[in-house]
Amino acid sequence: MIYRAAIFDLDGVLADTARLHLKAWHQLAQELKRPWAEDTGERLKGLERMASLEVILGEESDRFSEKEKIDLASRKNSYYQKLIRSLSPKDLLPGAGELLAWLNEKQIPIALASASKNAQAVLQALEISHYFSTIADPEQSAPKPCPDIFLAAAQGLQVEPELCVAFEDAAAGVAAIKAANGMTAVGVGSENSLREADFIVGSLSEFVPKDFFLSAIHAASIS
Ligand code: BG6
Ligand code: MG
Repeated sequence: MIYRAAIFDLDGVLADTARLHLKAWHQLAQELKRPWAEDTGERLKGLERMASLEVILGEESDRFSEKEKIDLASRKNSYYQKLIRSLSPKDLLPGAGELLAWLNEKQIPIALASASKNAQAVLQALEISHYFSTIADPEQSAPKPCPDIFLAAAQGLQVEPELCVAFEDAAAGVAAIKAANGMTAVGVGSENSLREADFIVGSLSEFVPKDFFLSAIHAASIS
């Protein structure tokens, strides 16, 4: 299969920021004296902000009003924003910069499908904003594992979902890709949590783009 476009999750795929989200949630959990189980980190990956808060609050959720929950989520966000202040290109994950540059050179369009409302700031700090033709708006899409944000990204690129390869580090994100009308999922990380993906790589540096993508230049010359 030859693909025409690439769609990326951000946190934990391109940027080493998944651990910063977890650090910020962990701080909040400690302040609220909520337990942090062995699988809490994995369960939080890819979930949008308010859904993540529900994981932290667990059975205590009913004790908080909607207003209190919004305040707690903004408190976590302020911890996270403090942590991302020092981000720079060195926080790109292995292979991310090289893969984006390769796709760009071959004129293969690239989109972002991140649940994070901080995504644009992170892209800027990493100095990779210019690679993205489309950044799907998480506020306009149902959260992962719904496929909406990946479908919006494909639509923004004007490429059929079945001709897109999407990259994810979270089980919820892989489920979203697999529900996106024939889109192909590359799981980035450990096999345990990404079983549903079509392909799994330990990091983007293991991904061989020339096996997947037809250069737009080449496509134009043969059509
Ligand atoms: C996802 C992260 O990319 O974005 C989650 O994997 C995070 O951990 C979610 O909760 C929402 O991010 P934000 O920045 O809008 O709170
Ligand atoms: Mg992620």
